[in-house]
Amino acid sequence: MKEILDAILEQDSTAADFAALPLPESYRAVTVHKDEADMFAGLPSRDKDPRTSLHLDDVPLPEIGPGEALVAVMASSVNYNSVWTSIFEPVSTFAFLERYGRLSPLTKRHDLPYHVIGSDLAGVVLRTGPGVNKWQPGDRVVAHCLSVELESADGHNDTMLDPEQRIWGFETNFGGLAEIALVKSNQLMPKPEHLSWEEAAAPGLVNSTAYRQLVSRNGAGMKQGDNVLIWGASGGLGSYATQFALAGGATPICVVSSPEKAEICRKMGAEAIIDRNAEDYRFWKDEHTQDPREWKRFGATIRELTGGEDVDIVFEHPGRETFGASVYVTRKGGTIVTCASTSGYHHEYDNRYLWMSLKRIVGSHFANYREAWEANRLIAKGRIHPTLSRTYTLAETGQAAYDVHRNLHQGKVGVLALSPEEGLGVTNPEMRERHLPAINRFRGA
Ligand SMILES: NC(=O)c1ccc[n+]([C@@H]2O[C@H](COP(=O)([O-])OP(=O)(O)OC[C@H]3O[C@@H](n4cnc5c(N)ncnc54)[C@H](OP(=O)(O)O)[C@@H]3O)[C@@H](O)[C@H]2O)c1
Repeated sequence: MKEILDAILEQDSTAADFAALPLPESYRAVTVHKDEADMFAGLPSRDKDPRTSLHLDDVPLPEIGPGEALVAVMASSVNYNSVWTSIFEPVSTFAFLERYGRLSPLTKRHDLPYHVIGSDLAGVVLRTGPGVNKWQPGDRVVAHCLSVELESADGHNDTMLDPEQRIWGFETNFGGLAEIALVKSNQLMPKPEHLSWEEAAAPGLVNSTAYRQLVSRNGAGMKQGDNVLIWGASGGLGSYATQFALAGGATPICVVSSPEKAEICRKMGAEAIIDRNAEDYRFWKDEHTQDPREWKRFGATIRELTGGEDVDIVFEHPGRETFGASVYVTRKGGTIVTCASTSGYHHEYDNRYLWMSLKRIVGSHFANYREAWEANRLIAKGRIHPTLSRTYTLAETGQAAYDVHRNLHQGKVGVLALSPEEGLGVTNPEMRERHLPAINRFRGA
């Protein structure tokens, strides 16, 4: 592994140098173990501790197949799916690996008693499999997390519709929280030159998801002037949704849960901000009954901030706890676009407010290849910036996932894999200098 790292740190290593590097037989990776899938049985979600279920193991290097690439991972990041995997909710991810393993002899490689997790990476291509022409050893890349087979016609207009669509590092093995990752080569995209490895690895999953959910015509198709209500506006998804709204001429109405989170939204340029803790909204009177008066109170606060207007789009992901309120506050003809259900996936809302006001609920999930590419292009152009607040080592990934599970973090939490320190990997320092305050906005928050 040392030779690989030396070649990466050595600025003038060539493609031939990388191709000639011997590959190690094993590598360090963050895993969950199949025989521990029941370890938290009976505990409430909050008490399930990723620090006990995530391990740093030496695992064998997988064989590379056609259309694939092995990538030396310099940095990765923690996503909420790393939290779901680590607490084995809503299901153990080993069920995904078993199902993928039944598809073909090649996918059988993924069905193992351990799961290498992680759906983001920034690093350097080490090897490519047969049929890969666009990428070669030595290329500096980031990877999006869409894994598809594309053997069916269904996925050829929108790759998210492929019947064999999976999220790499969540529904497949050999993810990015490791020293080496196995990806399909069509997951690869150029690493933004002005960013360090850990900054480049941070946006991937959430940035692409927010792009489809909010900007793309497959999602809400946001336009100039729209009012966009963004839940968790300083979190992983929300910190990118807020930037997309601002960059696209819309007005974000940011919901957060502390003055510190409100401050970071202000730093991004948002003006309309609601601190849901300070306002103490109680959308649910008890476990089964919502309180429409609280929806109205929430709507009234939004109108105060917008000069009397309702929201065109609600960027939803908290789910059960907020969905009734989200449907209520959306303007006539508006769109509630949802990609998750962090607080519970059985949503309840008053349908009269939906049909009588001709609102739409749109489901959105990750992003197709094109959308992920567009989202990365905006990062590479310095239009949208990483929201990295803190970086951990691979060995500390359990703590990083714990922080995200407990909502103690801001923006994105990064993980250094092979990179020995933060700040490496920048090849366009002039561009970096121009964007430095924006790149560092979330640092230390
Ligand atoms: N379908 C997809 O492709 C996709 C992609 C990415 C993420 N997701 C899912 O989306 C969810 C959020 O991901 P993320 O990366 O943005 O996580 P995150 O970094 O934890 O941010 C989510 C934010 O939502 C807010 N929030 C959490 N629970 C809430 C509640 N009950 N009511 C109101 N606000 C609440 C919190 O902000 P405040 O405390 O400041 O309000 C939190 O910081 C997760 O469930 C994740 O699995 C889905």
